[in-house]
Amino acid sequence: MNNPDPSFNAPKITVIGTGYLGAAQAICMAVMGFDVLGFDVDHRKIDQLRAGEVPFYEPGLPEKLQEALASGRLTFTTSLDAVAEFGDVHFICVGTPQAVNSSAANVSFVESAFTGLAARISRKALLVGKSTVPIGTAERLTGLVSDISPLGAELEVAWNPEFLREGFAVQDTLHPDRLVFGVASDWAEERLRLAFKPLLDDGTPLIVADLATAELVKVAANSFLATKISFINAMAEVCEATSADVSLLAAALSLDDRIGGRFLKPGLGFGGGCLPKDIRAFKHRADELGVGQAVSFLGEVDAINNRRRIRTVDLVRELAGGSLVGVRVAALGAAFKPNSDDVRDAPAMDVARMLYLEGATVSVYDPQANANAHRLYPDLNYVDTLEAAVEQADVVALLTEWEEFRRADPDYLGGMVRHRRVFDGRHALDAMGYKAKGWEYRALGRPHQPSTLAMGGTLRQKEAPSPTSGLPR
Ligand SMILES: NC(=O)c1ccc[n+]([C@@H]2O[C@H](COP(=O)([O-])OP(=O)(O)OC[C@H]3O[C@@H](n4cnc5c(N)ncnc54)[C@H](O)[C@@H]3O)[C@@H](O)[C@H]2O)c1
Repeated sequence: MNNPDPSFNAPKITVIGTGYLGAAQAICMAVMGFDVLGFDVDHRKIDQLRAGEVPFYEPGLPEKLQEALASGRLTFTTSLDAVAEFGDVHFICVGTPQAVNSSAANVSFVESAFTGLAARISRKALLVGKSTVPIGTAERLTGLVSDISPLGAELEVAWNPEFLREGFAVQDTLHPDRLVFGVASDWAEERLRLAFKPLLDDGTPLIVADLATAELVKVAANSFLATKISFINAMAEVCEATSADVSLLAAALSLDDRIGGRFLKPGLGFGGGCLPKDIRAFKHRADELGVGQAVSFLGEVDAINNRRRIRTVDLVRELAGGSLVGVRVAALGAAFKPNSDDVRDAPAMDVARMLYLEGATVSVYDPQANANAHRLYPDLNYVDTLEAAVEQADVVALLTEWEEFRRADPDYLGGMVRHRRVFDGRHALDAMGYKAKGWEYRALGRPHQPSTLAMGGTLRQKEAPSPTSGLPR
């Protein structure tokens, strides 16, 4: 895929916003053979990237950054004038966090990036939004851009929603499941086809749509995934009121080809910088559009997800004997999913904080996310190893299913704790293995004594997805 055909007129690419999405985009486009200029308002991030350092944890990305820098095709700047001068196709990848005091998306960073560029660009170019935005944003920005730009309507807006998963950013950027182009003209489509030529030549499926549909694809995909996760977690709630076992239920459901096992693993639920805020913003936007009823179920999807966090605290308290005051809890994991250092709306951090507020002494250990977690919740105690976390623990709580925690030997851990009690928030541990070593084992949606019925046959190989390994964004 490297070095596209020299005869093809490759557009010069800029990437505005070099966070989790934009850095991967800039680096991978340079690896694909394009000349790329990355820009961010955060000078520290730009200095790090220039120095060959990825500002966050993403497996495989540091190696790709080295490759891209060595090729001479990737450079970084903090000058928006330089960006305007350089690019033919500008990808806007800035954040759209949840607004303060509202469930709406804060699109002010997107607006500022579009208008800042529109005021500076003096030759025909394409502004492409990749950020996740409320439906109608692209159309509104089209008007704003043409009002501000010296080129008027010559400066076009397109939308190219992004589906990459943190932890798999390189794979997902270089080999996406599909591309979606939201365009208002043939010219915009043709520019995007050039910008993604290596991927299209590789056979990546493409959907060309209008701007609104492209915006909707992204929030609809995230809503579907969130709903699937909350569906099985709703079943876990029902299991908890009976003696049913949600693990076996999920295994049986997943063997139905119409349902499938991905995203059907019960546990502590979803989090991160996208899914929670995207479903809230979608619901908010649907209300504004007068179709709130159509997606009102997303409110329940969100509520089920949040109840899992509260139920987790209940189970840890139960394991501890009814009170958390003075109880030493080893909180294993802080990131919203393994292979990421992202702690935005992370279930693990929410749980750790609630345990702490109830009087527990919480030792948090995450293989990559301790620093980010500490910045967000400085009150908690962070330790640098699994051993330090479990030392003298009354309860061990697995909150993010890092491989290191899955692999840990229950007997080895048992030698360090004060009490052999484990809460498995991700259904990631070998329940029987722990019980055999004298641990009291609890998990969401499973009876106190987990069923010993085998999930036999080929099930374990065919369908045993990690609960959040595929979690998007
Ligand atoms: N993180 C993911 O895996 C992922 C996946 C798909 C879609 N998205 C969407 O992509 C967008 C970005 O998400 P992210 O996770 O990369 O966020 P992020 O917070 O990691 O990165 C955003 C970056 O934008 C920069 N920025 C803010 N305003 C700017 C401006 N005016 N000009 C230039 N840079 C500016 C910030 O400094 C930051 O570096 C969001 O809309 C998100 O929903 C993210």
